[in-house]
Amino acid sequence: MAKLLDIQSLRAGYGSINVLWDLSLSVEEGKLTCILGPNGGGKTTLLRAIMGLVRTDGGTVAYQGNDRTNASTWAMVNDGIAMIPEGRMVFRDMTVADNLLMGAFPKKCRARAPQNLKMVYDMFPRLYERRDQLAGALSGGEAQMLAMGRGLMEEPKLILVDEPSLGLAPVVVDEVMGILDRLRGEGRTIVLVEQNTNKALKIADHVYLIRGGKVVLSEAAASVDLGRLHDLYFARDALHAE
Ligand SMILES: Nc1ncnc2c1ncn2[C@@H]1O[C@H](COP(=O)(O)OP(=O)(O)OP(=O)(O)O)[C@@H](O)[C@H]1O
Ligand SMILES: [Mg+2]
Repeated sequence: MAKLLDIQSLRAGYGSINVLWDLSLSVEEGKLTCILGPNGGGKTTLLRAIMGLVRTDGGTVAYQGNDRTNASTWAMVNDGIAMIPEGRMVFRDMTVADNLLMGAFPKKCRARAPQNLKMVYDMFPRLYERRDQLAGALSGGEAQMLAMGRGLMEEPKLILVDEPSLGLAPVVVDEVMGILDRLRGEGRTIVLVEQNTNKALKIADHVYLIRGGKVVLSEAAASVDLGRLHDLYFARDALHAE
């Protein structure tokens, strides 16, 4: 299987605070790779570093076999990577339709915006119903769908989605996971950052656990032992070792 994204020994942080410590991971094309880990572990920082939103301080980011370390966010979007950020970040004072059209801003996909808008509305009928409403009036689940729809307007090959289930009711989480599963089925590659371990494991192909800016587990989702995963998640391995 081809590696779509390959990260080697990445270091990144904010000013003098380092967050990622020689972190290495790879993402196979057409697969759903899940990144789990406790709060403050560096999951969002990793996505930001991939997207050129946080400057790296060592290591490499390769995409489609090319070195893209510290490429601009713009260049990464043009290369077909969409980030669906933590907290959704929809434009609250703009309509649902205008939010979606913002996703079609990259020149390469502007001409196909009408078809892509239709594709997004087919996938999220509720967004179609609410297309003329302000995004600020959406429920949490609808806002998450809007953030995903906006990402899809960029025609991404690789989708980085950061904690989409945050604050959503279980039934809505299932809906969001179902959509990610479907996008993978359509041949897209997905990196899913989650804290909802059980639900994420059900759709993931491969799992990484990140803690303290390092990978502490890398395993096929099907063979993950939940007890061991939780021990590593809550650093109980360190307690046992004492
Ligand atoms: N803009 C920033 N400036 C300084 N430090 C930051 C900034 N953003 C994050 N950090 C710090 O970097 C570390 C990793 O944060 P990050 O947001 O990457 O974690 P996370 O794994 O995404 O956590 P969560 O599950 O809570 O979203 C934390 O210690 C955090 O306080
Ligand atoms: Mg985060």
